[in-house]
Amino acid sequence: MAGFPAIDFVQFHESDLPRRIASGNGALGYAAARGLGTLALQSTGGPAFSYVPRNQTVEVVAGADQADTVVEVTPADFSDLANDLAAAAGLFYPGKVRVLRGEPRRFLDWEPAWRSLFHGRPVYDPDELDLRDPLGAPLDPSRSFASDDPLPDIKHFLETAGYVRVRSVFDAKEIEAFRRAAADAADKASEADDNSWWGVTTSGEKRLTRILEARDEPAFQDLVNDPRLNRLVDVLGLGLQPDLLGETVTVLFKIKDVAEGLANLPWHRDCGMGGHALHCPIVNLTIFLTACNRDTGGLWMLPGSHAYSCPTSLLRADEPAGSVLIEAEPGDVTLHLSDTMHAAFPPTGDGVLRESLILTWKPPGARPHDGQTHYNDAIKGEAGVPVARDRRSAS
Ligand SMILES: [Fe+2]
Repeated sequence: MAGFPAIDFVQFHESDLPRRIASGNGALGYAAARGLGTLALQSTGGPAFSYVPRNQTVEVVAGADQADTVVEVTPADFSDLANDLAAAAGLFYPGKVRVLRGEPRRFLDWEPAWRSLFHGRPVYDPDELDLRDPLGAPLDPSRSFASDDPLPDIKHFLETAGYVRVRSVFDAKEIEAFRRAAADAADKASEADDNSWWGVTTSGEKRLTRILEARDEPAFQDLVNDPRLNRLVDVLGLGLQPDLLGETVTVLFKIKDVAEGLANLPWHRDCGMGGHALHCPIVNLTIFLTACNRDTGGLWMLPGSHAYSCPTSLLRADEPAGSVLIEAEPGDVTLHLSDTMHAAFPPTGDGVLRESLILTWKPPGARPHDGQTHYNDAIKGEAGVPVARDRRSAS
């Protein structure tokens, strides 16, 4: 597609990739790939190349004989992978790749290493991270801002941490109106409407967890034009626009004791299913209608992670080193960049749970490149996700 010339599987592995590895990407990739064993990519009906993490680099070797894991991929899908239009998860879950040998999920584990090898994207290391505030002091990752704080300070924090919380953007009366509108939208939702996610609790009850598009509610109709929100998004100076062609106002309801469905989300980035090179940076803006904390269903961020690849081994812990719990009050707003690693964990309390609105701003014209309505359509029908559909992953 325009701006993304097709990448030839053989030429890339024989010439382009070794050059990138020798120029420094090999050491970056090794940091992500060590411990993963050797993985070979086999072009459909064609040759294979093995990625071998050793000697502080990743060597590319013709053939698949010595590989622990062998994965078959079409030339077109490999081109998209190497252009960062496709992500490993977006190829894996809908069965676009075929695992010929080894542990299937190794293909997913290699995604951060490919970003290092292909693009020079470094690996997230909380011990090496050195985030600074505008005066050069260590950044406090739990800092929040008042609405009238200087915009350059808000911009600096958002660009450095990958997220920012702004307090009391909406007042109590507005939040009350939003909660009523959310309840009205919930009353209209049904499992058959193709506009909602549902979870099943451990007692077998089906519960609404998300309304994908609720902009028909009068209280939400003009929300994307609210100058308070656009003022915050515009700090980036990127000309981002509300995602009017996607889901414009999404409503999220946390529920307890979920046995099935995507009510909670593990560590992820919002472009984790694909489209990074086309879309990012996307800004996802959350308006908290109720408190956000560990009890109500916490939203967690990994400060500074938007500039790095994150090894899956790091993210197996619920609270990896350096992660921050966003503790917000009703009326607060967070913005996070689509590349920032974040997670939404189950509520632990018994009181009012988290309710949020999510709005998205994207670069002009950013749409999926392969005819899907959303990259997250790739995990429709994924085993283990029998009820909810992840059409977007903003949390
Ligand atoms: Fe998300």
